[in-house]
Amino acid sequence: MSFESVATAAYLVASLLFILSLAGLSKHETAKRGLTAGVAGMLIALVATVGLVLDDHPGPAAVALLVIAVVAGAAIGLWRARIVHMTGMPELIALLHSFVGLAAVLVGWNGYLASDHLEGALARIHHAEVFIGVFIGAVTFTGSIVAFLKLSARVKSSPLVLPGKNLINLGALTLFVGLTVAFVIHPLAWELVVVTIVALALGWHLVASIGGGDMPVVVSMLNSYSGWAAAASGFLLGNDLLIVTGALVGSSGAYLSYIMCQAMNRSFLSVIAGGLGIEAPTTGDTDYGEHREINADDTAQLLASASSVVITPGYGMAVAQAQYPVAELTRILRESGVNVRFGIHPVAGRLPGHMNVLLAEAKVPYDIVFEMDEINDDFADTDVVLVIGANDTVNPAAAEDPGSPIAGMPVLRVWDAADVVVFKRSMAAGYAGVQNPLFFRDNTQMLFGDAKDRVEDILRSLRDNPVFAATSAPSTTR
Ligand code: TAP
Repeated sequence: MSFESVATAAYLVASLLFILSLAGLSKHETAKRGLTAGVAGMLIALVATVGLVLDDHPGPAAVALLVIAVVAGAAIGLWRARIVHMTGMPELIALLHSFVGLAAVLVGWNGYLASDHLEGALARIHHAEVFIGVFIGAVTFTGSIVAFLKLSARVKSSPLVLPGKNLINLGALTLFVGLTVAFVIHPLAWELVVVTIVALALGWHLVASIGGGDMPVVVSMLNSYSGWAAAASGFLLGNDLLIVTGALVGSSGAYLSYIMCQAMNRSFLSVIAGGLGIEAPTTGDTDYGEHREINADDTAQLLASASSVVITPGYGMAVAQAQYPVAELTRILRESGVNVRFGIHPVAGRLPGHMNVLLAEAKVPYDIVFEMDEINDDFADTDVVLVIGANDTVNPAAAEDPGSPIAGMPVLRVWDAADVVVFKRSMAAGYAGVQNPLFFRDNTQMLFGDAKDRVEDILRSLRDNPVFAATSAPSTTR
């Protein structure tokens, strides 16, 4: 039996393991099993691929090249995975997507330069694979780089609105279709050069045109593009596993983007077309008046007299690592009879489920953590809302100002509560770069400072309060 048939069997097993992995990752209870299946599938795929290469090119040169590539890649991957903070995951993922895109461009160009031996229909199919692979790869490459720059705050997250931006995108797509036909009939190097440049510019423009609030959808959309780019490379390299894996990533990423668009009341087509139909925001520097401030002792007083409290955490809680004192505050208030619940926005933080993971880490009971839709109607009957490091996800402009860049995005209606306390360090805007009128409402007070420090101050203040003294045993917060 040739090694090729062994590798084909191994690829089949790996494909099944990847499908099992996706199925496992869809539920909390089976997520670990899903991860193990994914790792096992990747290991089998890697061993089979190395075996195939060595079978095709025996000799020390191939071994040396493979060892260098695998060791360098594994070392960099392990190092990055070890040092990355959870808040930095989306930008790391965006960077990794850019590598998939770049690899697809290189594989495509290599396929063009090494395609002399093909003739007739086979040659035309090959040329189409090269052209489409390079195009998707280049769009993914620059799109992911812009996503990385925006997510890591190296460039502004507000949307770039060039005049005639939709025409620019449409023009680039039309050029791509025309050049594809020409390249399939009679491939010329300049056509591939032009499509590479056009696709690089299009990827850059598509993602730059999307506002900060829509970045979660962009990340999952680029995930999908990277899958299709990998599938295109799979066709070129004649690698079935790459085709199957690429299709899995491409379709699951597209479906996740669709679900996220529905949750955020965004048009799926508009987002994948780089904000098609979204015009420049009309909201300028509106003067919302003066904000009011509160200190930790007065916040503790407010909480001491409340019977229902809702906590809406956001990215700032993750930055401050305030989940531990927040969990302690929750425990103390609940043991004194206050009804404490959490309201979680679907895109709070920087990755799906970010807040749920942090709260679970700090051992906040699951049954008091509610999704936005489950809790939104209850704010009107709530005494105090603590907005801990959230901003865009509690911005009333999304619901009330049609000219706002985040108009239409569902938000937590915290302003319906009797009192709102916002924990943040300054009056700075949130991720989408939009001012938040919530901070200037009559029932809102700002508690400035690092969220963890301020929650700890509140805990100290509550411990001095005779009503809470019994329940506030020495803090176990970190
Ligand atoms: P943001 O709108 O990002 O606002 C977070 C707030 O936390 C900031 O206004 C900041 O104000 C404050 N903050 C930062 N560090 C702090 C600290 N140490 N202590 C106290 N406050 C601190 O938060 P959000 O409401 O969670 O919204 C998430 C945003 O990210 C949305 O626009 C969403 O679309 C986007 N996004 C989400 C995802 C996913 S999948 N969740 C992925 C990418 C992007 P100061 O600087 O004044 O302190």
